[in-house]
Amino acid sequence: MSRRARTTRLGFQPPAVGEEEIEAVAETIRSGWLTTGPRAALLEERMAEYLEAEHVVALASGTAAMHLALVALGVGPGDEVVTTPITWPATANVVEHCGARPVFVDVRPDDLNIDPARVPEAVTERTKAILPVHIAGQPCDLDPLLALGPPVVEDAAHALESRYRGRKVGAISTATCFSLYATKNVAAGEGGLVATDDSALAERVREMRLTRRGDGSRYDQVGPGFKANLSDVLAAIALVQLDKLELHTAARRRQFELYDEGLDGLDGITPLARDPRDTHAHHLYVVRVDAGRAGGTRDDYRAALDEQGVATSIHFLPVHLLTWFRERYPDQVSLPVAERAGGEVLSLPLSPAHSEDDIRDVIAAVQGVYERLVG
Ligand SMILES: Cc1ncc(COP(=O)(O)O)c(C=O)c1O
Repeated sequence: MSRRARTTRLGFQPPAVGEEEIEAVAETIRSGWLTTGPRAALLEERMAEYLEAEHVVALASGTAAMHLALVALGVGPGDEVVTTPITWPATANVVEHCGARPVFVDVRPDDLNIDPARVPEAVTERTKAILPVHIAGQPCDLDPLLALGPPVVEDAAHALESRYRGRKVGAISTATCFSLYATKNVAAGEGGLVATDDSALAERVREMRLTRRGDGSRYDQVGPGFKANLSDVLAAIALVQLDKLELHTAARRRQFELYDEGLDGLDGITPLARDPRDTHAHHLYVVRVDAGRAGGTRDDYRAALDEQGVATSIHFLPVHLLTWFRERYPDQVSLPVAERAGGEVLSLPLSPAHSEDDIRDVIAAVQGVYERLVG
């Protein structure tokens, strides 16, 4: 079935915001709370309930959430943190900021999450934490990681709605870190959260997110703070987004269904695996393009879709191959599954701001490229 050509460009993940968010921001500014105040506190309270966690601490970014969680655990020079190469570089950067070394472990080919079978050989007496990622919203296999001993800190930037074997991501490991970045399922523009059941850890993160302890002329400093707190203006946006979460989740789920149906049968274009035992957060719809079967590379598809006004993205290029990590760790072993995936992954537009017809346009465009390349 041929579809009309698009006259407007289709964004990759435009924010799904409207008058309610605008009104919430205006109201916050009128209230006089520009910095961390009652809205950030309410967000922490509501997120703790939603994530089924004892404590949630609101921060300036997902990166800050991971960084402060690691600092609170005492990760420092000489330590190692086991993590995945298929992630946004921030996951590994925060380990560097602690003065520790990220130890990259290869991923599983089907869902691109850290391969739990390979983690034990990477754990040594220097391992201070394990930092896995839930790529695209599919939880990684947490139980084997939790069984190894070192604390697990999850990078759950993609996994706000995820459940692992029925358990809410946010309520499982030592600390779980979320992002409120512009494209995330609850988007404030910028922001992050640490969820934890450990009161002492929550308190350490809370203290480090500011510069000092106390107020007025009676303040003191017990450690150099990071000034990584969340503004009430952004918390106000996140609160509205949380109200809309159910609606937005339904839209994301529907877009996944449309892609599953529409791309089924395109040999060599394969979505990442989703485990039916888990709840997926539907954060990203990622396919792998196998050039041998799909008639062209991921980059061929990306360029052809771009020409037709469809924006796509890549999640992710393997972090250990990026210049800084490559040069810093020349002894890094190759990670063949991640390295192959880095050249094949393509993320298709997904957002509650898109209509079903927008997604059908993307599917038609992918089908068109496929027919042209496969012949
Ligand atoms: C997997 C992953 N981890 C961490 C981050 C960092 O979050 P932030 O941008 O809020 O610092 C992102 C992206 O934004 C991400 O996609």
